[in-house]
Amino acid sequence: MKKIYINEKFPHMIHGADYNPDQWQDRPDILDEDIRLLKLANCNSLSVGIFAWAALEPEEGKYDFSFLDKAIDDVYAAGGRIVLATPSGARPAWLSQKYPEVLRMDNRDHRNWHGARHNHCYTSPIYREKVANINRRLAQRYAKHPAVIMWHISNEYGGECYCPLCREAFREFLKKKYGSLDKLNDQWWSRFWAHTYTDWSQIDPPSPVGETCTHGMTLDWKRFCTYQTTDFMKSEIRALREISNDIPVTTNLMGFFPGLDYRELAKELDVVSWDNYPTWRGDDRSDVECAMHTAMIHDLNRSLKHRPFMMMESTPSLVNWHPINKLKRPGQNMLVSLQAVAHGSDTVQYFQWRKGRGSSEKFHGAVVDHVGHENTRVFREVSELGARLAKLDDIVGTLTESRVAYLYDWGNAWALTDAQGFQKNDKKITQTRDQFYRPLWKRGINTDVISTEDDFSCYDLIIAPQLYMTSEALIDKLEAFVANGGTLLCTYMTGMVNENDLCYLGGFPGGKLKDVFGIWNEEIDTLYPDEHNTVSMGGKEYKAVDYCELIHPQGAEVLATYSSDFYSGRAALTRNRYGKGEAYYLAFRDTGDLTDSLLADLLAQKGITSDFDGALPYGVTAHSRTDGENTFVFLENYTTQEVTLSTSQKWLTVEENAAISDTVTLAPYQMRILKKSN
Ligand code: GLA
Ligand code: ZN
Repeated sequence: MKKIYINEKFPHMIHGADYNPDQWQDRPDILDEDIRLLKLANCNSLSVGIFAWAALEPEEGKYDFSFLDKAIDDVYAAGGRIVLATPSGARPAWLSQKYPEVLRMDNRDHRNWHGARHNHCYTSPIYREKVANINRRLAQRYAKHPAVIMWHISNEYGGECYCPLCREAFREFLKKKYGSLDKLNDQWWSRFWAHTYTDWSQIDPPSPVGETCTHGMTLDWKRFCTYQTTDFMKSEIRALREISNDIPVTTNLMGFFPGLDYRELAKELDVVSWDNYPTWRGDDRSDVECAMHTAMIHDLNRSLKHRPFMMMESTPSLVNWHPINKLKRPGQNMLVSLQAVAHGSDTVQYFQWRKGRGSSEKFHGAVVDHVGHENTRVFREVSELGARLAKLDDIVGTLTESRVAYLYDWGNAWALTDAQGFQKNDKKITQTRDQFYRPLWKRGINTDVISTEDDFSCYDLIIAPQLYMTSEALIDKLEAFVANGGTLLCTYMTGMVNENDLCYLGGFPGGKLKDVFGIWNEEIDTLYPDEHNTVSMGGKEYKAVDYCELIHPQGAEVLATYSSDFYSGRAALTRNRYGKGEAYYLAFRDTGDLTDSLLADLLAQKGITSDFDGALPYGVTAHSRTDGENTFVFLENYTTQEVTLSTSQKWLTVEENAAISDTVTLAPYQMRILKKSN
């Protein structure tokens, strides 16, 4: 199996941080100290230039690269590498002042003032030109520098602009998509409330002072925002590529951020990266949940390109923007940083290298604190982690093999969130996601988080809860997956609308899905938060909350039934054998117990197991990577208890090359990395 590197020129775990030498230009002593500390911290990379535009181009057309020249040379001389950012995430004041069109407008026609960040118009030709210009200059100056291993394009793209330029671009996007107004009116069902459009110029984006009820429009607006942001990002990348093609590009994403369909951005990137800021609390119950939740986001990032990703940001201690900013407990940074590696990251990077003196991030965790020296708990822990990462060269570039996939589609989440009905303001999307991922996580099952465009045929089990929006193409793909022997698990709200939010006629789920599941769904009962129904399965009772569908089996076997209310006795969970495979339909929202035992059964039936053979107690899990010859297993203990696991396999520890058999002990918060040959 071929390894896939973040950058072949640096086949090591990257350990580093966001670095802002531009903020310390009057303190050469501190800049020198940074280089001394870099080595002591066992860091080998710094990400620079992310918000440095005002320093790089203090006046229009006047450049000063001196601080960046020095930082890049000094880091390289110390053996480090550079992740070099384009500075479009925040612009100099002169630019906003001279060209107000670069400032974003809101959906009530107000233009932003200069300030903050991440608030530019992504359509403005002037902004695009100014960004391309500074990007080109960065590429001209540094693309051949041996220190530079990655382009970090902008920072955390997001947000929407409603300026006249963006509105016009939205209309163009719609013209391209629908071709004719008739088609648009048809797919938006715009005869409703006399909303029929007779000229493209009548169409504006959704707004609280305009349209919010045309769900197809809201969906297209979200797609447009992704399209236009991606187009902006492409224009940034193009400017760099004009000069050099050698350096891979990434941009830092934000997990399941609802504002952008990251799958579209990922197509344009060489490497995916993300910023990881969970709320660790030092309390077992909450940290185990947090670990599970974070694991799924790592899986998403790995699955976006099915290759190792970067954890571009995390904090070595605390953040400053959670409502409560608690310290990571001793040992926790080591564990949760290596968690990223366990799920396929080849980097552990922090925001930030050094705390600034002023402005809003001065109390955000950093490798180097205001005290300025290395004798701090956080610095010591970072340095210890760096020493471990340096021993993991064999794991760099290795891949993850998963037989289970969780289908997550941004468009589906948008459409379902916006749907007026059910529980109007809370479809329980996040809770449902956790509920179906938790049983896999706690059993140490590698899981990919895939899109509707991924190849389904390499999985044995696909889990797709609340798959409300299914295009005809997706219906065909799901059908083929099951017909060819796959197991598919779907739930209430499946296959209700097409890709433009038009309901399927003829009974839900739409089209062939009725045959695949062997059921049809007549009604859905939304319960009040203080209500529940009960479901019985195999002599056990389970709670049904929030959503109960009233389905009719047509060929499917009934595995569980409701036990109260007017639909008592009716099917609540079904299984249908279809072609060579099976399709399960869970008609209600469960509190987790039934999902857990159902998934345990499905994994057992399919022979899908963890790469670690021993039982995993509460809060302890295992994930793996492989180079084809060896399997590397990461044993993760998220609790404050020591645990001993038994194993009947023979292992070697990756870092010390020591043999392990029979039992493995994990101290509180310990992560151990073992390997076995295949
Ligand atoms: C984000 C940004 C960083 C910084 C951190 C703080 O991820 O990308 O610039 O603001 O948050 O946690
Ligand atoms: Zn705009």
